[in-house]
Amino acid sequence: MTEQTPVTETTAKAVPVLPDAQTVTSVKHYTDRLFAFRVSRPASLRFRSGEFVMIGLMGDPHPETGKQRPLLRAYSIASPSWDDELEFYSIKVPDGPLTSKLQHIKVGDQIILKPKPVGTLVHDALLPGTRLYLFSTGTGFAPFASLLREPETYENFDEIVMTHTCRDVDELTYGRELIENLKSDEMMIELLGEENLAKIRYYPTTTREQSPKMGRITTLIENGELFADLGVPALDPAVDRAMVCGSLAFNLDIKALMEKAGLNEGANSEPGEFVIEKAFVG
Ligand SMILES: Cc1cc2nc3c(=O)[nH]c(=O)nc-3n(C[C@H](O)[C@H](O)[C@H](O)COP(=O)(O)OP(=O)(O)OC[C@H]3O[C@@H](n4cnc5c(N)ncnc54)[C@H](O)[C@@H]3O)c2cc1C
Ligand SMILES: NC(=O)c1ccc[n+]([C@@H]2O[C@H](COP(=O)([O-])OP(=O)(O)OC[C@H]3O[C@@H](n4cnc5c(N)ncnc54)[C@H](OP(=O)(O)O)[C@@H]3O)[C@@H](O)[C@H]2O)c1
Repeated sequence: MTEQTPVTETTAKAVPVLPDAQTVTSVKHYTDRLFAFRVSRPASLRFRSGEFVMIGLMGDPHPETGKQRPLLRAYSIASPSWDDELEFYSIKVPDGPLTSKLQHIKVGDQIILKPKPVGTLVHDALLPGTRLYLFSTGTGFAPFASLLREPETYENFDEIVMTHTCRDVDELTYGRELIENLKSDEMMIELLGEENLAKIRYYPTTTREQSPKMGRITTLIENGELFADLGVPALDPAVDRAMVCGSLAFNLDIKALMEKAGLNEGANSEPGEFVIEKAFVG
């Protein structure tokens, strides 16, 4: 029995399945660089909203041996911990080993999912506070798509500021639609509560294409525009908490701003006033 055929049947028609296989249940393309998809959830998988897992596909067969190995990458789980399925929000890198293939998945296809969730963008890693900032760029919105659908987010905070910065307007669509849906979907309103959903302050910005709010969020923090727009005081370690997810450069710049404001970085082992995770390596 090979690694690709862990399930055998007595008939000669056994269908090979991937190890740790999950079945794709929906796919939605947003731009030529972004798509989201949902897969079945292993019955035994427990995770905290905001965590990530390794997912992937089988790689190409080795030219000499014909052997195939799993090609795995880290992905934030975009769905909340209570959901029956798992959702992912993905980039399409034209020559990316995984996403050049993953972007073509269809309903009924299988992907590999390693059921070992980890991560620091979790409530456990934050000290209590009253206002939660969720700072994201690009696909860094994904862990917050999970946390925005998590009741604990609203139990822990009075106000949730969701910032999302992308180059172009179309790249904001997944996040905008998710928040619109939260506030209009009867099931979500019942689960999270209308008053709680009113705590969300959505703050989308673009940096290249014209939109109502332009600029890097780091600039808008530094020049005070973010706080003026929201009508809130500047960052205060006594009440403000932050979760950050974007490129390495973005994370480093935000980290410096958080520390300048007196917030300390937290971890699972030692909760703090802000937490950070990379949205991708490179
Ligand atoms: C903790 C963690 C969580 C992640 N969560 C997600 C997620 O939820 N969604 C997601 O799409 N990716 C996520 N990634 C990135 C993901 O692991 C892969 O890098 C991505 O799927 C591309 O895989 P690839 O094999 O096609 O190309 P890779 O060889 O992995 O990447 C090629 C290059 O593409 C660029 N790139 C990779 N990922 C992104 C991205 N997300 N946004 C912009 N540029 C990128 C980088 O410049 C990178 O060097 C995460 C990475 C980490 C470390
Ligand atoms: N997005 C696209 O349309 C596009 C198209 C083709 C290829 N790519 C490639 O894909 C990769 C990732 O692109 P991406 O757009 O997903 O991610 P990205 O380059 O990290 O940019 C996402 C958003 O974050 C902002 N940003 C980047 N660094 C920042 C920092 N240090 N502080 C504050 N804000 C910061 C960007 O603003 P700025 O615009 O000011 O940088 C942009 O609005 C890049 O290598 C890029 O060359 C992107």
